[in-house]
Amino acid sequence: MPENGETAPLLGEGIPNLARTGNLERETPADRRRRLATIRAVVYTVLTVVFVVALASVLFLWDKITGVVGHLPKDPEKAALYILNNAPVIDGHIDLPILVRSAFANNISAIDLEKPFAGHVDIPRLRKGKVGGFFWSVYTDCPHAGSEGEDFLNATWSVRDTLEQIDIARLLVQKYPNTFAWTLKSSDIKAAIGRGQIASLLGVEGGHQLGNSIQVLRTYYDLGVRYVTLTHACHNAFADSCGIFEDPKPYHGGLSKLGYALIDEMNRIGMLVDLSHTSDATAKQAIKYSKAPVIWSHSSARAVHDVPRNVPDDILKFIGFGQGQTDAVVMVNFAPFFVAEPGKADVKAVADHVDHIAKVAGKRHVGLGSDFDGIGEVPVGLEDVSKYPALVAELYRRGWNAFDLAGVTGGNLLRVMEGAERVAAQMQKAGIPPAATKYDKRTDL
Ligand SMILES: *[C@@H]1O[C@H](CO)[C@@H](O)[C@H](O)[C@H]1NC(C)=O
Ligand SMILES: *[C@@H]1O[C@H](CO)[C@@H](O)[C@H](O)[C@H]1NC(C)=O
Ligand SMILES: [Zn+2]
Repeated sequence: MPENGETAPLLGEGIPNLARTGNLERETPADRRRRLATIRAVVYTVLTVVFVVALASVLFLWDKITGVVGHLPKDPEKAALYILNNAPVIDGHIDLPILVRSAFANNISAIDLEKPFAGHVDIPRLRKGKVGGFFWSVYTDCPHAGSEGEDFLNATWSVRDTLEQIDIARLLVQKYPNTFAWTLKSSDIKAAIGRGQIASLLGVEGGHQLGNSIQVLRTYYDLGVRYVTLTHACHNAFADSCGIFEDPKPYHGGLSKLGYALIDEMNRIGMLVDLSHTSDATAKQAIKYSKAPVIWSHSSARAVHDVPRNVPDDILKFIGFGQGQTDAVVMVNFAPFFVAEPGKADVKAVADHVDHIAKVAGKRHVGLGSDFDGIGEVPVGLEDVSKYPALVAELYRRGWNAFDLAGVTGGNLLRVMEGAERVAAQMQKAGIPPAATKYDKRTDL
């Protein structure tokens, strides 16, 4: 239910809709002239507004003017709530389904999300934290080291377990129809938020969950999955992983031939390529190769805390709207061991990651991917999904404005999704057929 009477989230007065302003296509000279004219018009308007505001404040009307022009309270906590009421959080990675598997043997009847629930996520805390949507991670462990055999060919239970995780997420969304909305497109997310619901999407966390099969990828898409992380902590037939705390020996040296075919098909169907957990070589090759914008669903900045799971600056530099760059959003992970030295992870440390990614890749390329319910420890001040306002308040205190914060909370992800949807529509319109690429080590086909 709408908590505050908002009907147009992300479009609230004073907070432009970032999702509409993506600039992914190559620009023609006419477009460029039009864009420059628009920029000039905006600059003149801003200058006029600044002049009027300055004049008015000289006339001791400042308090009245901020009520009309700025809308934002000075108090960071209040400002954060204002911003989040207009632009709620869309979190890139929440692990509730694996908690339901490990602690409740997939029995959703035993679960009541309307009451305080084990872990970091339940409905009261989602509401308190101003969450407008999240990706339910449908995750299964990597097979035991080596059990897939040399070429990842031995059978595993990964596809069965992924289907069970998808089932859990879908049943929980259905169990609370007033709270959760099943969403498949960026426009569905906006509509759900507009109705006061929490948009629910699925993300598969690792190429090992695909059974080496591009057909399985398409089937997951049809079940509602909207991103696949190319690897979890293990290498697979598609790509190399970065491991967890230390880089494992490369297997393919990045993407395999099958991995490139996977990205082509992901682009064609509109499945987001997620580069969290991948090796640097995989990430570099994938961001260069993907025709669609990509995501890091739950990764922080390596320059702030040096672990392989975080994104290094030389990869952040490939993100953007310029020549040789690809649009992307890096959704910052809250896991203390990825955020800071032991005992040092808190709201400020997480904000440092947001700031750093913004500095190197740009403010339009940062988001939030907490990893809640997938992490044993939590940062001080960001203990669960009720605490996002504290992070927004910290960024506001550091000078972030409402427009940029609306991008971090969800707008940047929406723009990237829209970009991927556009690329898929173009590729399908061009008549590119469904890929039938076979893993060349398979002998059954
Ligand atoms: C599932 O949970 C419900 C409610 O706690 C319980 O009554 C039921 O027996 C459980 N089912 C199984 C198969 O454990
Ligand atoms: C993989 O399967 C083959 C053929 O069944 C078997 O010989 C081999 O031991 C298996 N490898 C592992 C690591 O389980
Ligand atoms: Zn993960």
